[in-house]
Amino acid sequence: MGGAAIVPTVWAAVITVAAMAAGVAEGGVGVNWGTLASHPLKPSIVVNLLKDNGIKKVKLFDSDTWTVSSLAGSKIETVIGIPNDRLKKFAESYNEAKNWVKDNVTVHMYDGGIDIRYVSVGNEAFLTAYNGSFVNVTFPAMQNVQKALDEAGHGKKIKVTTALNADVYEAKSNLPSDGQFRPDIYSIIKEIVRFLDRHDAPFMVNIYPFLSLYQNPNFPIDYAFFGGSGQSNDDNGKSYTNVFDANYDTLIWSLKKIGFPNLKIVIGEVGWPTDANVFANVTLAKRFYDGLFEKLASGEGTPMRPKESFEVYLFGLLDENAKSVLPGFFERHWGIFQFDGKPKFPMDLSGKGNDKMLVAAKGVQYMERKWCVLRQTLKNLDPTAREVDYACSYSDCTALTAGGSCSQLDRRGRISYAFNIYFQMQDQNVEACVFGGTAEIVTKNATIGNCLFPIQIVSAGERLKAAAVAMVGLVLSLFVLGL
Ligand SMILES: *[C@@H]1O[C@H](CO)[C@@H](O)[C@H](O)[C@H]1NC(C)=O
Ligand SMILES: *[C@@H]1O[C@H](CO)[C@@H](O)[C@H](O)[C@H]1NC(C)=O
Ligand SMILES: *[C@@H]1O[C@H](CO)[C@@H](O)[C@H](O)[C@H]1NC(C)=O
Ligand SMILES: *[C@@H]1O[C@H](CO)[C@@H](O)[C@H](O)[C@H]1NC(C)=O
Ligand SMILES: *[C@@H]1O[C@H](CO)[C@@H](O)[C@H](O)[C@H]1NC(C)=O
Repeated sequence: MGGAAIVPTVWAAVITVAAMAAGVAEGGVGVNWGTLASHPLKPSIVVNLLKDNGIKKVKLFDSDTWTVSSLAGSKIETVIGIPNDRLKKFAESYNEAKNWVKDNVTVHMYDGGIDIRYVSVGNEAFLTAYNGSFVNVTFPAMQNVQKALDEAGHGKKIKVTTALNADVYEAKSNLPSDGQFRPDIYSIIKEIVRFLDRHDAPFMVNIYPFLSLYQNPNFPIDYAFFGGSGQSNDDNGKSYTNVFDANYDTLIWSLKKIGFPNLKIVIGEVGWPTDANVFANVTLAKRFYDGLFEKLASGEGTPMRPKESFEVYLFGLLDENAKSVLPGFFERHWGIFQFDGKPKFPMDLSGKGNDKMLVAAKGVQYMERKWCVLRQTLKNLDPTAREVDYACSYSDCTALTAGGSCSQLDRRGRISYAFNIYFQMQDQNVEACVFGGTAEIVTKNATIGNCLFPIQIVSAGERLKAAAVAMVGLVLSLFVLGL
């Protein structure tokens, strides 16, 4: 609005203080919108889902035009990403970076366009699982993208960073004050941090208390959550009651030791999965999120940064049934919404504790009410083993794995689950419900107890079908053992 009066200085001061006291950065929590699903929701439906729930920040993993364009005019602050497999090209060729900025940034920078805030060049590129493949290319790629943004006139507004996994730093004793960046990437991280500082860009880090619990059988479960009910760890007079704070401060110490104790930090991902592991269920996810939102609203930071105003992106928005399960079978169940945009459990993003179900996605089109199940009259189940094997190789049977929502089904139930999930992912093609004559299509809801037999949605696009098909043989072999 043109006529805004000059704000009296005293008010300006009050406003600043109020903003600083709030524990979550202005605009509230953001979410990660991943699209590795066999049947992704239409981008316009997802954008409305964000708006309906008052979510004003979103982080994407690429710059897919269809997805990004759907955010036009929404005023939603957006992080776009450059996938790891393109880092080498961007590192070697400034032109590549320049063309990317032209096609994927500049094109959206019109009045009423997209409010792009950050570009994450690479995603967890320094994970040890990548064997150093991206260590030498990430920083040069960041530099080239920054240069291209500057040249195009966007450098002031759009900051280049790189979302890093929390294993880029470590603390031998588990005390935050022992924290330091991993030796194999120490010098690279130092350069990156200097670069971020110079450009007023944040250090983006993904912090996962769930993984601490999952990876360490002796991990005290309460320490994964907020609320301080469990043990507390003393670090030179600073007391830690949860692993999130301890992890965050390990990063602060690591930064401090290389001379940047005040660098801005953004939590690129934080969340809790709800299926396919003993620790992944709705009860524990709700406990984690309740604690997280309360913390963010409380204005309390961490022992090292008591006044921290956190900027946080939840992981994730939707379940993604085509994600790699190498990190664990829970990997496809991180959504605060199901694959179809239905909320999983009550929450209050504002941290005020007024928990209620988030608003579900509107306008979602489902396929027919048809399920594929084991033929009821079939007595001899032996011939189904091969069929189940096949079904699970080309679909998503993770809910059947230990601790999963369908792990308690009997043998017949498990076979039906596998048949149905395959049938749905094949768009209910009748030929996908044959299985050597052991299967049949039914119209009565085949759901068994808490084990949802979903009806798939009408797909927004074919482009990810291939990804869905190129999935794990891993799931199935484990699962077949259970039959
Ligand atoms: C723009 O981004 C899309 C999606 O990430 C990518 O496929 C395309 O190659 C990019 N354009 C350029 C010129 O790099
Ligand atoms: C990393 O190395 C391990 C062991 O040598 C190998 O099994 C794995 O495939 C490698 N991963 C990548 C991404 O290169
Ligand atoms: C990265 O660079 C270092 C130092 O030049 C070199 O020793 C290492 O082999 C390189 N790594 C890769 C994966 O290219
Ligand atoms: C969730 O997981 C915890 C830990 O495994 C377990 O104690 C609890 O019973 C589970 N809750 C539900 C509803 O499955
Ligand atoms: C099937 O039943 C389950 C459990 O009652 C329910 O959540 C699901 O929405 C039903 N599916 C359909 C398509 O009606």
